[in-house]
Amino acid sequence: MLSYRHAFHAGNFADVLKHAVLTNVLEYMTRKDKGYTYIDSHSGAGMYQLTEEYAQKTGEYKQGIAKLINNDDIPEALEEYIALIQSFNQAEELKLYPGSPAVAKEFSRRQDSAHLFELHSTDINHLTEFCERWSKSHVKQSDGYQGILSLLPPPSRRGVVLIDPPYELKEDYTKAVKTIISAYKKFATGTYILWYPVVTRELIDKMREQFIASDVKNVLQVEFCMQKDTDAYGMTGTGLFVVNPPWQLAQQLEIILPYLKNKLGSSESSFSLEQIIEE
Ligand SMILES: C[S@@+](CC[C@H](N)C(=O)[O-])C[C@H]1O[C@@H](n2cnc3c(N)ncnc32)[C@H](O)[C@@H]1O
Repeated sequence: MLSYRHAFHAGNFADVLKHAVLTNVLEYMTRKDKGYTYIDSHSGAGMYQLTEEYAQKTGEYKQGIAKLINNDDIPEALEEYIALIQSFNQAEELKLYPGSPAVAKEFSRRQDSAHLFELHSTDINHLTEFCERWSKSHVKQSDGYQGILSLLPPPSRRGVVLIDPPYELKEDYTKAVKTIISAYKKFATGTYILWYPVVTRELIDKMREQFIASDVKNVLQVEFCMQKDTDAYGMTGTGLFVVNPPWQLAQQLEIILPYLKNKLGSSESSFSLEQIIEE
């Protein structure tokens, strides 16, 4: 039984990093006229109401996007992401937070297509409704890991794949990397973004080792931790593995990461950015 609901976490510090990276990757894809395919293996509901019960219960967005949205010193590397969040909210009041499908929709042109997978019986309905007027989107209530493999390589040979599992099951850690390794065999030039929470450091180290032992090339690992690693339960940090990142993404992250630490973090917070596998 699936119990994870992203509505509790929408707009938190982990979403900020994930969606800032997604925004910059998709903005890069639209610099060329040729269409691209976006695949979201774990899509969630699409759009989140921050004023409603779920987000209010945890208040996680207050420690994330709410601390950035009205800043007047946003660095250029974050401008596109912040402008996107602002476009859904009026008069400096934060009510809506776009999930990854909503971010992707903003960058989708007539020549682009999107495939969105979601299993949860409630969130699939929200997602379907959200995508109703997005003509080149295809929403499916089925397993996103298999979904990715069934769609590659995309006809356009240009593609971005976001893998953003809930990690309710420990197997998600290895399964997500295995899926990218298999996907890469079918489509080695695609950009793959894999999100992860830092809860148990050993599990992240294993993912990293899995990548290093594979044939996958050109992998960037970025991490932003609010607190030091601990054995206690709970997410202390967040990270992403990005396969085939756009050439300027690392430079953008070098600016984004210290800014996020300064605005969202504390003296305990840290960040890292490393090309773990060269091209
Ligand atoms: C972290 S949330 C996704 C958030 C979304 N990507 C965003 O950035 O707004 C993970 C979602 O994956 C869904 N899910 C879990 N297992 C899945 C699977 N095997 N295939 C597709 N969706 C799955 C969950 O129901 C949940 O809504």
